[in-house]
Amino acid sequence: MNSKIVFFDTTLRDGEQSPGVSLNLKQKIEIGLALVDLGIDVIEAGFPITSPGDFQAVQALAKELKGATIAALARANKKDIEVAWEALRVAENPRIHTFIATSDIHMKYKLRKTKDEVLELARSAVAFAKTLAPEVEFSAEDATRSDREFLAKVVLEVVKAGATTINIPDTVGYTVPQEYYDLIKFLIEKLVKEGYEEELKGGALRISVHCHNDLGLAVANSLSAILAGATQVEGTINGIGERAGNAALEEIIMTLRTREDFFKAKLGYSPVVDIDTKKIVPVSQMVSQYTGMVVQPNKAIVGANAFAHESGIHQHGVLCERTTYEIINPEDIGWTGSAIVLGKHSGRHAIKFKLESLGWHLEKDLLDRVFERYREEVKDILRQVDDAYLEGIVLDLLLEDQYRYQLLASQVISVLSGSLKPIAQVEIEDKKEGRRVSIGLGVGPIDAAYKAVAEALGYTFSREEGKKPLRLIDFHIDALSGGTSAEGVCGVILEDESGRRSAGLGRDGDIVIASLKALIKALNRMEAYIERGDKLKGLS
Ligand code: KIV
Ligand code: ZN
Repeated sequence: MNSKIVFFDTTLRDGEQSPGVSLNLKQKIEIGLALVDLGIDVIEAGFPITSPGDFQAVQALAKELKGATIAALARANKKDIEVAWEALRVAENPRIHTFIATSDIHMKYKLRKTKDEVLELARSAVAFAKTLAPEVEFSAEDATRSDREFLAKVVLEVVKAGATTINIPDTVGYTVPQEYYDLIKFLIEKLVKEGYEEELKGGALRISVHCHNDLGLAVANSLSAILAGATQVEGTINGIGERAGNAALEEIIMTLRTREDFFKAKLGYSPVVDIDTKKIVPVSQMVSQYTGMVVQPNKAIVGANAFAHESGIHQHGVLCERTTYEIINPEDIGWTGSAIVLGKHSGRHAIKFKLESLGWHLEKDLLDRVFERYREEVKDILRQVDDAYLEGIVLDLLLEDQYRYQLLASQVISVLSGSLKPIAQVEIEDKKEGRRVSIGLGVGPIDAAYKAVAEALGYTFSREEGKKPLRLIDFHIDALSGGTSAEGVCGVILEDESGRRSAGLGRDGDIVIASLKALIKALNRMEAYIERGDKLKGLS
């Protein structure tokens, strides 16, 4: 039994059909290279007949990507297939992927063809493609809403015509796991009856599945089909694709890996998953960045919160033994950094763990005081607490009386329109250099105020020569209650030249003042750490 599961990625074709997504050639090649690196067996590079851009992209990918089969999509007609082959022919391992719809709805309204006509188009398209390419895949579009006997007839005809991968798409995301299982079993039994058992067992003939997620069942349906004997699974990274998307390949891969016991028990062998899972998160992030399709935080496997533990009980459990609340080791799929996220529900264990991972090994008494301050000042205000805020509390407790800057006065003028700009004036006491007064102009009053502070203290947010560069990593303002008299709270995270982060929170009824307080706090902590931080941690 050939137990290998062939992973067919269509991020660059079906994924690129996601509304609003358009990838340039360079991005497609980078994603393609990352997919090869991940261990994907077949990469669908595009649909060459659809545009000259798609043609060129498929051609470039066919040339650049080595070590994977490159597929190009073509409708079941001569012209499409010729153009697909023209784009593909330079590939190391090319595959023509031709398709035609087999459901009554599609045949009647979209194709306006009879069953016999569709059967003949499918057969002749595969036979023609086979004269060009060494490998031909056939897809029966809308297979899950097709008449089963007719579908089986088409499948047998295209196999006879030379197709070696038969894809049974759930084009509109309509099927459910048990029904899809039955359909795949039914088709395999038909093929076995016709004498294709050896080919199916040896992997020379594969049943493939391609599921859309309209009912949120794409991954479940794909897995169900694997249990029924499908040995190729199609999908996209992050599950992007038409409408609600395609099956998320990373979820299928990690389910097969994590529940190998279950699949082995059901199939009688372990499905082989030749994937370098450590590359999953980097590929996911690349696809998200290039497509502009943000991964929802609670998305399985690759969502930012997929391995983040916030509640005190869960954090304690994970810190004692990771497997209490984690079924996958996040490092195995390429997550780096700590899974412990500080927030509203974090307890003492998590705070201690975080501080230790930042290099702060505190005496119990000081740790208690950090925890108190965390509860009083941060916990209910920030949804997620960046490490820099926690470190800031330690610095306040150890060094606050030595902080360098104090905001003495400020004045800000807002502007409604015209050529005038908002202007801010600040007066700051600098313990080292004395009192400073400075002015800043900005896009808005806060921008002006921040520029005035930077000017006064020798920093720059815009890489000015001779000044200390700062990057504003995060800036946000929230109201602590409702109404116009609500107190505002501002959170700021800065990054200095060395990449170290420093955070500050500021509260005030005036949001400009709250913002200034947050900035001064972050700068004080930054300077204090530069002077004393490493020594206090015992690092130097
Ligand atoms: O969803 C679908 O049916 C497709 C085919 C072209 C394979 O994307
Ligand atoms: Zn599709």
